[in-house]
Amino acid sequence: MILECRHIYKTYIQGKLEVPVLKDVNFCMDEGEYVAIMGPSGSGKSTLMNLIGCLDKPTRGELFLDGKDVSRLSDNELADLRLEKIGFVFQNFQLLPYMTALENVELPLTYAGLPKRERQKLAGEALERVGLGERMDFRPNQLSGGQKQRTAIARAIANHPKIILADEPTGALDSKSGSQVMELFQELNREGSTVLMITHDAGVGARAARMVEIRDGILYLPGQEADAERKLKEEEEKLADREGGTADET
Ligand SMILES: Nc1ncnc2c1ncn2[C@@H]1O[C@H](COP(=O)(O)OP(=O)(O)O)[C@@H](O)[C@H]1O
Ligand SMILES: [Mg+2]
Repeated sequence: MILECRHIYKTYIQGKLEVPVLKDVNFCMDEGEYVAIMGPSGSGKSTLMNLIGCLDKPTRGELFLDGKDVSRLSDNELADLRLEKIGFVFQNFQLLPYMTALENVELPLTYAGLPKRERQKLAGEALERVGLGERMDFRPNQLSGGQKQRTAIARAIANHPKIILADEPTGALDSKSGSQVMELFQELNREGSTVLMITHDAGVGARAARMVEIRDGILYLPGQEADAERKLKEEEEKLADREGGTADET
C-alpha cells in the first residue's frame, strides 16, 4: 500500500474559533492506482492534499506514506520525503517566471542534491515525455496554459516519485488543453505511475479509475455512504451539544 489515512482530522484555529475541516478521513491507495477525490469548493480537498503531500500535519490520526508514519517525522524528514517520493501538480502551475522550462523541471532535483549532469538528463527526459522536448529553453510566458501545466507535470515526474498528487490540475485550462492534460495523467498511470487527483469537476473525476467523494470534510467511500452519514450526524450533534452546553451553564 502506498498511502493509508487512518482517522485523520484537521482542525484549523482561527482566532478563538476552531474550524473543523477534515473529520475522520479513512482512505487507502495501492501502488499503480489512479484515484480522483471529488468534492465542491470548500469541502477540504486541498487540506487533505496538503496532508498527504506532507506540507502540513493532521490534528489527529495517522498517515502512512510508502509504509512510513508521516505524523511522526520532523520537518526536515518531511521535506526529504517530499523530494524523494512525491510529485506535485497545482492548478496555477507554480512555475518560476525567470527560469526556462528545463530549469523549472531541474529545480526540485537540485534540492534533492543530484549532480548537474543527472539533473539535466532527468529533466530533459521528463520534458520529452510530456511532449515538450522542443521547448525546453522557453520561459513560462512563452508557453500556452496547457504547455505550462505539462512543464509542471514534467517537474512532478522527473524524479520518478512514488505518487503524483494533482490539485485541480485542469482548473485554469480551457477544455481542450484540460483534456490533453487528463490524457497525459491517464498515460502516465498506464505506464505505472500512481496518481491521486483532486477536482470539483465530475467530468474530470470520471476519467480516473476510481472516484471518491468528499463533502464537508467527510470522505464518502463507495459502499460506506451510510457510515459517512452517521459520522456527519454525530458531528452535528457534537456541535449542537457544545452550543447548548454554554446556554445551560447560565
Ligand atoms: N489555513 C486555514 N485556516 C483556516 N481555515 C482554513 C485554512 N485553510 C482552509 N481553511 C478552510 O477549510 C475549508 C476547506 O478548505 P480547502 O481544503 O481549501 O477546500 P477545497 O480545496 O475543497 O476548496 C474551507 O472552509 C476553508 O475556509
Ligand atoms: Mg482546493
